[in-house]
Amino acid sequence: MNERPPATAGIVLLLRTAAATDRRGLIVSLGLGSLASLLTPLFPLLFKALVDGAVRSDTNTVTAAAVAIAALQAGSHSSGSYASIFGWNLWERVTVSIDERLVGLTTRLGLVDRAERPDYVEHLTLVRTNRETFQESMMSLVGAMFLAVQVLVTIAILATVAPILILLPLFSAAPVAAGRWAEERGQRALRESALDARTADGFALLAVDPPAAGELRVLRLRELVLERHIAAWERAVARQWRAESVGALVSAAALVVFTVGFAGAVLFVTDRSLHGGATVGAVILVLTAGQQLHNQIGGVLASSGDLFRIVETVRHLAWIERYVDLHEERGAARPAPAMREGLRLEGVSFRYDGAERDALADVSLTLPAGSVVAVVGENGAGKSTLVKLLCGLHRPTAGRIAVDGVDLADTHAPSWRASLSGAFQDFVRFEVLARESVGIGRIEEAGEPARVRRALAGADVADLEGELPEGLETPLGRAFLNGVDLSGGQWQKVALARSMMREAPLMLVLDEPTYSLDVDSERRVFEWFSRVAGTDNPLGTITVIVSHRFSTVRAAHVVAVVHDGRLVESGTHAELLRRGGRYAEMYRTQAEGYV
Ligand SMILES: Nc1ncnc2c1ncn2[C@@H]1O[C@H](COP(=O)(O)OP(=O)(O)O)[C@@H](O)[C@H]1O
Ligand SMILES: [Mg+2]
Repeated sequence: MNERPPATAGIVLLLRTAAATDRRGLIVSLGLGSLASLLTPLFPLLFKALVDGAVRSDTNTVTAAAVAIAALQAGSHSSGSYASIFGWNLWERVTVSIDERLVGLTTRLGLVDRAERPDYVEHLTLVRTNRETFQESMMSLVGAMFLAVQVLVTIAILATVAPILILLPLFSAAPVAAGRWAEERGQRALRESALDARTADGFALLAVDPPAAGELRVLRLRELVLERHIAAWERAVARQWRAESVGALVSAAALVVFTVGFAGAVLFVTDRSLHGGATVGAVILVLTAGQQLHNQIGGVLASSGDLFRIVETVRHLAWIERYVDLHEERGAARPAPAMREGLRLEGVSFRYDGAERDALADVSLTLPAGSVVAVVGENGAGKSTLVKLLCGLHRPTAGRIAVDGVDLADTHAPSWRASLSGAFQDFVRFEVLARESVGIGRIEEAGEPARVRRALAGADVADLEGELPEGLETPLGRAFLNGVDLSGGQWQKVALARSMMREAPLMLVLDEPTYSLDVDSERRVFEWFSRVAGTDNPLGTITVIVSHRFSTVRAAHVVAVVHDGRLVESGTHAELLRRGGRYAEMYRTQAEGYV
């Protein structure tokens, strides 16, 4: 899995994507581009005709040539322009469809830990970084392809004057090689100065970042920050300048080689023309075609970097596709519409990829249908890990989790997750309209304000609507010009309400959902959840709640105490207090300040 697929796999993938995305755009842009690249090299031929006509005082030829030049100008220019308009549009769509593909792939991957593997993340990051310049790179690459066609046509036209002129491109080799060398040096300088440039950027950002600005002023650090910024910037610029100036010198020297060849060709054809072996027009042809040829060759090679980048991008993409194919979840069993017995963990252990020890070890626990299960334990005990395993976001490294007796590993993971609802500790701040941010809890109903209000009421956070300047239609977050950034508590309310959008979940998961709510709100939220999940609930919904508040925990049917990755105790609040173990101790120490 470490070796990457060959470049050809990438190119095939790219063409397939382009054809599937916008077949018409692909055909039109390639067709018009080819037309433009066949027309453009014809100019020297027409110049020749024009000059030769003038020399012979042949008005008809001159007129015809002039008209043809004008027509060619219009034709090559407009087909070139349209080719790039269509191409631009096409590659933009391809970029978007690459994004969609990535999203689809990540979704198919299902298990969160598969998507967290460093090699996967690396390939994903590389695709996403290159994606920013993908459109330009593609345009430049396709442009280079057309320039290559032009080179061939131009060489053929030169050969009509004298076959030996086909050697002319060789003289372009030196400046082109020098150009590439200079380019590489420039890139290397850029890479080597990247740290300095980033440092400079960092300091510049720090100086204008509003929260930081206050602190900087108080601590009188502005001058220091500015100095650091300037120093880092100067180091970066000096390095790049050195590389660029040396590069420019070498390129200029190499250009002499081309000039010698070019001058030789012109002298050669001029000499012939003086001795009647060629027309004056032929001299003009060689002059214009020679110059054109040089530019075309330079253009072709200038985009070799783009070729490299694009091939790399699609290779990373192809790697991801193969990875997903290998690791896709294939469990087929669909969860039943209601929970009959409940969930059982049987000797479940889990270790995060690359971790030294198990985050959970040998946990066996029954979560009866219709029950409220509270998970308690210190920070890092493994509570969130347990919750994620129950949601099927990770798969146990040992043991199994059974839903009504069916192993979760054999269950169709997307369907299982579709029948869950919950709010996680690391909830997401969806920066969209408030209505949508709540509504995406059940995307089919995200547009219905009444449904969203019911969810807000359900999570006991109906007051949120009044707190927002434009109610449910308020854009949330700083991504919007007029967006409202919420407090931590308000974001949490949004997340809670979101978890209320699914009305009939089989399992409701609340991982410290009320972290930034006050004790009273948490109690009301919890009462609501207990009602949803009550034992008379026909769905047998299980509520799993992770909380530090004993006012919440004591009402649960089952309290599971996790310590250091192990389940150390479980039972009701009263049972655990009687037992006098870890839970009783936690309760005693916290009861003093709480409840
Ligand atoms: N994505 C992860 N990769 C590696 N280790 C992790 C990851 N998430 C959590 N852990 C580790 O697993 C242990 C349990 O974490 P967690 O389940 O989040 O604890 P809790 O929710 O009880 O605070 C901790 O030691 C934590 O550092
Ligand atoms: Mg946690």
